Amino acid sequence: MEPYSMKNPFPATVRGVRSVTKPGSAKETIHVDYSLEGSGLTYVTGDALGVIPNNDPALVDALVEALGLDASALVALPDGCTAPLREALISSYDITSLKKGVLTKWNAVANSEKLAEILADKDALKNFCWGRDLLDLATDPEMKANFADASAFVSILGKMSPRLYSIASSPDAVPGQVSLCVGAVRYTSLERKRGGVCSTFMADRIQAGDKVKVFVHSNKNFRLPEDGNTPIIMVGPGTGIAPFRAFWQQRIADNAAGPMWLFFGNPYQATDNCYEDETAPLVESGKLKLSVAWSRDQEYKIYVQHLMEQAGEEIWQWLEQGAAFYMCGDANRMAKDVEKALLDIIAKYGNRDEAAAAEYLKAMKDAKRYQKDVY
Ligand SMILES: Cc1cc2nc3c(=O)[nH]c(=O)nc-3n(C[C@H](O)[C@H](O)[C@H](O)COP(=O)(O)OP(=O)(O)OC[C@H]3O[C@@H](n4cnc5c(N)ncnc54)[C@H](O)[C@@H]3O)c2cc1C
Ligand SMILES: NC(=O)c1ccc[n+]([C@@H]2O[C@H](COP(=O)([O-])OP(=O)(O)OC[C@H]3O[C@@H](n4cnc5c(N)ncnc54)[C@H](OP(=O)(O)O)[C@@H]3O)[C@@H](O)[C@H]2O)c1
Repeated sequence: MEPYSMKNPFPATVRGVRSVTKPGSAKETIHVDYSLEGSGLTYVTGDALGVIPNNDPALVDALVEALGLDASALVALPDGCTAPLREALISSYDITSLKKGVLTKWNAVANSEKLAEILADKDALKNFCWGRDLLDLATDPEMKANFADASAFVSILGKMSPRLYSIASSPDAVPGQVSLCVGAVRYTSLERKRGGVCSTFMADRIQAGDKVKVFVHSNKNFRLPEDGNTPIIMVGPGTGIAPFRAFWQQRIADNAAGPMWLFFGNPYQATDNCYEDETAPLVESGKLKLSVAWSRDQEYKIYVQHLMEQAGEEIWQWLEQGAAFYMCGDANRMAKDVEKALLDIIAKYGNRDEAAAAEYLKAMKDAKRYQKDVY
């Protein structure tokens, strides 16, 4: 039998979905366990899982109705099989992310002057695509397209893209299982409430016993040190905590003695203390040092990098003792700020100028002691 892979994903059984933030959280975050039993799939702590989601059936129904198409008409699937339009749109096609390709094909049918103008202007196109999906086009009288039939519509669509998630479990701690920590993406645009396809698929539309298509995505650049005695510093605000849950599970499964220091951050302690039930006993037993930045529990922001600055001297000592430094989470802002804080600590406590601090960090990177998993 062909091994399971991105091209041939494994239908993993959902073992459970639970919330790791409390009701009212501004960062609704869920934990999902999948069974990999019978798949032959293996993974290494630090790897990611690819998940192929389904679209929201309510969005599909609204789109089919707005286009005046027959939901039961048989259409081709990307793999060459056929399915009724509704089912095909739920399982197999991208109906949410607008790109030049699909908009060009749409306008070959719609012949909208307004859309043609947008397509001709790169910046206007970028603005237009942000926060819109195909239902916005189908319900805009100036852009609506009258497709000859369901197949004509499906022929302009790209196939559903998988989304990657840092694996939040160790294969040695929980064999045959893989866990994810997922932030639900929800926003309102043009007065319509919308959800990220994959994150809300897992938060709202799956339950224990369901099958979800997954594959393992190797991440060779995010690995624990080979020597279990090496100290590790982990910086993972928000869902950035995900691979570090795998790291601490792995170190405990290995009975590794190396000290672990986690910098976590989230808005409010009352609602957003993710995995508190797991970190508290580790802290209590001295296995984990935990520094948490509650960003909104006071009038001014406290972020992980502020706690790093405060603990700069001790971080420097850990680095000089050979610690490996890991970062996971938001690539846009957090990753840059945390790297800057780290460079400042190296410069200040290591008595180095900016260039020498950058050299120090580069040497850490070359020795695989500075690794990032940011998105
Ligand atoms: C290596 C890697 C590891 C990752 N690990 C994790 C992880 O452990 N946990 C985790 O939660 N995520 C993780 N991610 C992110 C994850 O892959 C998805 O990108 C994320 O869950 C969103 O996917 P989605 O399908 O829900 O949203 P999509 O359907 O892809 O929607 C996202 C899009 O919605 C639009 N959008 C979002 N917000 C707004 C807004 N306010 N206004 C207008 N438009 C908006 C934007 O076009 C945005 O690109 C990781 C990503 C990578 C690459
Ligand atoms: N590329 C993708 O496909 C994709 C998809 C989903 C999410 N993401 C990114 O992944 C990130 C993770 O999302 P999340 O919901 O888990 O958490 P998050 O938005 O990163 O928030 C976690 C904590 O980090 C704080 N924070 C905000 N800015 C920061 C900064 N510059 N430095 C350090 N900490 C900062 C937040 O504070 P405040 O909120 O109080 O400011 C919050 O307390 C998102 O920010 C998003 O940018 C990317």
